[in-house]
Amino acid sequence: MNKTVYLDNNATTRTDPAVVMAMMPFFSERYGNPSSMHAFGGSIHKEIEDAREKVAALIKADPSEIVFTGSGSESNNHAIFGSIEALGTDSTVITTRVEHPAVLQACRALKEKGVNVIEVGVMSDGTLNIDEYSEALTTPGKKLVSMMWANNETGVIFPIKTALEKARNAGAIFHTDAVQAVGKLSEVDVSKLPVNMLSFSGHKIHAPKGIGVLYIRKGTRVAPFLKGGHQENGRRAGTENVPYIVGLGKAAELAMEELASGENKRIAAMRDKLQEGLIKCPDAIVNGSLKDRLPNTLNISFEYIEGEGILYHLSDAGICASSGSACTSGALEPSHVVRAMGVPFTAVHGSTRFSLSRYNTEEEIDYVLSVVPEVVDRLRALSPFVTS
Ligand SMILES: Cc1ncc(COP(=O)(O)O)c(C=O)c1O
Repeated sequence: MNKTVYLDNNATTRTDPAVVMAMMPFFSERYGNPSSMHAFGGSIHKEIEDAREKVAALIKADPSEIVFTGSGSESNNHAIFGSIEALGTDSTVITTRVEHPAVLQACRALKEKGVNVIEVGVMSDGTLNIDEYSEALTTPGKKLVSMMWANNETGVIFPIKTALEKARNAGAIFHTDAVQAVGKLSEVDVSKLPVNMLSFSGHKIHAPKGIGVLYIRKGTRVAPFLKGGHQENGRRAGTENVPYIVGLGKAAELAMEELASGENKRIAAMRDKLQEGLIKCPDAIVNGSLKDRLPNTLNISFEYIEGEGILYHLSDAGICASSGSACTSGALEPSHVVRAMGVPFTAVHGSTRFSLSRYNTEEEIDYVLSVVPEVVDRLRALSPFVTS
């Protein structure tokens, strides 16, 4: 196979050609500023509002509750810093140990400023430790919960309905980072699950990088994160990124069609086939719950070998996957997610993530299955830890 087999869709997705087409006029002929008084610019305003309606429809929100941002990371920072600015620094923030750094680092920055921050743990299959969460909610005073809907590394889905009910009973406001859940789970529906805030990102749903959304439920008190402009109803300063907003509107429309068409079942079937093939490799372990998991994600460890070695060899064979490890001070740090799950030491370094999308085919999965076992065997032969 001469082409690239892209199985890193939790990192980013290919922008859909229909999205690119929808965006094009707004780079060239229709470049006006939506805030201008003249019709040339003013007509752009309607395009933004059309996109807002499409994006709102994807999560069943009211369009007035949608704020366009520059990324999922910005949306998370907006939700967390904006809430604490509104609630006061004498509040408590409850989050989890497996959040994306855009949530974890924001919470830790607040902690440095004296805010009480509680990081709740997870079980060995990556699901939420409900007892620890319930205990955290007994903290007296004002509280913000920030909890991801689905984990980017393992695909594990948190019990958002239960977590939200408990938060509401405890008087806490509830933010969810749904960057990996939107477009993949039809349960992401704010008319049924009344979260206060929800973040998502364009480039995970086949829109370009650099556009995000923060849903803010009517009546939720949250200060703007970017200050100094009237845009987005005073909730986010900065001239609107019109082409990207229009592109996200188109991507939201396509994501809704995809959710209705059962495409996720096709994706899940390919993921399952990949899992069945790879689990036959010696000392392979799937990380994360098999039950509560995104349809497109497989996180698998091959014990006694390094994930980076696998990625390097896969890359040579044209296959794109990823590992959760981060390079810190020249040393490879295993992912905070698999560590929080207590994955055995022999396996944390070998964790590899494959994440699929609408563009993958069964032929590609067959190709990956013909490459990975051979790569694992080769690396095991070099590993000083493999004894048999
Ligand atoms: C769960 C989660 N939250 C937040 C983000 C950040 O989104 P963005 O890349 O748009 O800043 C990501 C991106 O990987 C993610 O997976």
